[in-house]
Amino acid sequence: MNIVVSVTGGIAAYKTVHLVRLLIKAGHDVTVVPTEDALRFVGTPTWEAISRNPVTTSVHDDVARVRHVALGQNADLVIVAPATANSIAKMTAGIADDLFGTTLLATEAPVLIAPAMHAEMWRHPATQANIATLRTRGVSIVGPADGELAGGDSGPGRMSEPEEILDAALALLVPRDLDGLKVAISAGGTREPIDPVRFLGNRSSGRQGTALAAEAAARGAEVVLVAANISADVLAEAQHPSILIRHAGSAAELSATMKEVAADAAVVIMAAAVADYRPVTVSDRKLTKEGGGVPAIELAENEDIVAALVSTRRPGQIIVGFAAETPEDEQEMLARARRKQQRKGVDLLVVNEVGWERGFERADNAVHILGQDGAEAGSASGSKREVAGAVWNAVNAVRSRWRG
Ligand code: CTP
Repeated sequence: MNIVVSVTGGIAAYKTVHLVRLLIKAGHDVTVVPTEDALRFVGTPTWEAISRNPVTTSVHDDVARVRHVALGQNADLVIVAPATANSIAKMTAGIADDLFGTTLLATEAPVLIAPAMHAEMWRHPATQANIATLRTRGVSIVGPADGELAGGDSGPGRMSEPEEILDAALALLVPRDLDGLKVAISAGGTREPIDPVRFLGNRSSGRQGTALAAEAAARGAEVVLVAANISADVLAEAQHPSILIRHAGSAAELSATMKEVAADAAVVIMAAAVADYRPVTVSDRKLTKEGGGVPAIELAENEDIVAALVSTRRPGQIIVGFAAETPEDEQEMLARARRKQQRKGVDLLVVNEVGWERGFERADNAVHILGQDGAEAGSASGSKREVAGAVWNAVNAVRSRWRG
């Protein structure tokens, strides 16, 4: 996405450097538009190096490309951080005597501001009236936080931390097209116990399922994420007020929990890698070499959870399965996936190729999404969050088709 970060003249500008870094890391194209005053705090070379884009404050630069309005017109989001009392007043009045002002007047994109000023200036009726006006125009405001301010004062006026501004910004970029939708998602990989210290498991990290939960919550859904052996750092992405995390270890536990939470869900996604087999007997005590010989582990087949969910689904419930394949070529992969989709009866099947170097334990992914008729309903490659976006788009297409 094209994001304009307008920096106005406050000491908190140094924190905006980190915000720009976070936006770039999240894959966005960032153009920094500082005011002349802002450059007294952080200079042009820093903004150019960190944003990887040219920086100017003047409406008379790059006139050939009508830069004074083009930046605002092309933006998907404009962030003002820090937004000083003066810049908030100028925004409210629509003053356009520099690139900051023209960019804001020329944009139809969502605008997010992160105020930063002394507590008295923030509380002043002039500022409060300006903020109220901006809110009625649809401008989003993050902060200010209560805390220590420049000069040793304290009170409301501290600019929100870059991570908080990033979250508020990302929330503005996603459509709220899953508003209020109840969804249940399984993620991770099951572990089938052999004895108290050993298990049969798989390499699924839970990243894709966690990204599906985070994306759904950002788009307005109420999510129950059933996590099978996902590490805390991966699960951190699912920290959201609309995501409830339940834990399940083995396939049997996952089955019981998914059946419980699916009863209440409009959409169920089985992204977890479920063990197809479990040891018939689980030893109460650790198997030791003293027993002699090489132990033979007899296996029993696990229930197909997604097929069971399909057979007991309530009317209108959409069920999505995943398929992890290690095919010779794409044709074989899609043929196998079509058979799997028929066998399980899912409405959508998300197929991804896995292998020693692919799919599992990685940040990126590439998938095909098959519909009920086996036809391709979408495809995506990129970060697991981007793939999650494509899966939810496909779910939405099914929802609107079913609604007629
Ligand atoms: N699945 C399930 N219960 C199982 C095995 C798999 O619910 N016991 C679900 C997975 O969560 C996934 C889909 O079924 O949504 C496909 O999983 P996959 O491992 O690719 O398929 P399998 O059924 O194991 O088939 P195969 O081993 O032939 O690839």
